[in-house]
Amino acid sequence: MYRGVLERYGHWLDLPAYTQVVTLLEGNTPLIPMPRLGREVGCELFVKFEGVNPTGSFKDRGMTAAISEAAGRGVQTVICASTGNTAASAAAYAARAGMRAIVLIPEGKVAVGKLAGALAYGAEVIQVQGSFDAALSLVVEITQKTPITLVNSINPYRIEGQKTAAFEICDTLGRAPDWLCLPVGNAGNITSYWAGFRQYQKGQPRLLGVQAEGAAPLVYGHPIEHPETIATAIRIGKPARGEQALAAIQESQGKLLAVSDEAILQAQRLLASEGLWVEPASAAGFAGLLAESQRPDFPMRGKTVVVVCTGHGLKDPAIIAEHFASPRCIPAEYDALVEAVLRP
Ligand code: F0G
Repeated sequence: MYRGVLERYGHWLDLPAYTQVVTLLEGNTPLIPMPRLGREVGCELFVKFEGVNPTGSFKDRGMTAAISEAAGRGVQTVICASTGNTAASAAAYAARAGMRAIVLIPEGKVAVGKLAGALAYGAEVIQVQGSFDAALSLVVEITQKTPITLVNSINPYRIEGQKTAAFEICDTLGRAPDWLCLPVGNAGNITSYWAGFRQYQKGQPRLLGVQAEGAAPLVYGHPIEHPETIATAIRIGKPARGEQALAAIQESQGKLLAVSDEAILQAQRLLASEGLWVEPASAAGFAGLLAESQRPDFPMRGKTVVVVCTGHGLKDPAIIAEHFASPRCIPAEYDALVEAVLRP
């Protein structure tokens, strides 16, 4: 029986002996071949679909580690700032551990499926009149001054847990892919993948880190005071692990780029056209790959490429209502159906 990422990969992770495993059987996510899109862009393409984790995003890998460490210390309350997915994940794992979870989110900027998740799992949700970055500074300060434990990816155990995605990819392919494309927000995930691949020694991919144009502090080389993008998960102006992300990209001989919201939506549509519905931020990695594929010196041609899709499409259904075709409505009559079907 599968028992979650700590059970499977715990011996690879730097976790204290007192750790008490709190799991929802996260991880073990599929590496889905994308033959049609792969043919179109000219590489052997796979999606690591993290949307099928228990709370619908990759955050569960790091959260099982952070909450398990906290449980081993007898922690009673955890806190995080979040664009939504971390909040839902922290809420679920805290609930599982019997802890109090407090989550700070930027007011009005969190996708409905994430907010609903955090509330459903019983977290205390506090909206902050400011960006994710402002919320993160607040939670850092309160965890320095009180016994409340921080479960953002500044917490080193989050990084440890998230390395397991790199291990799984290597185990499935038998080696690391040539390229790994993924969205970059607060930069914890790219930091984890790089650490994971290096440690596992099954080869090292080149990393393509992708930010949204309106929230691309690492691409532009300075913090963004008012980040803005439809990909609200990565609406971040001052990534906590920015330095490490840049180092990882450089060491891997990879690349960092920014893509427009339009390109993100287009990538989301294309992934869905081959059966994968992911949230907008999750499509950013593929949007980056598409942008690269337009270049004459496209470095991924003929290569094995893994695109990390970090969260499920169900997280952000409002985007679909706003940007995709809406259903037509007919009277409940056979003639009307024939009309609609034969003359779409
Ligand atoms: N994709 C999704 C769906 C995310 O929710 C996030 C981050 C990222 C990508 C970027 O990952 O921050 O490790 O670079 N979401 C955080 C949150 C910030 O609060 O849920 P990162």
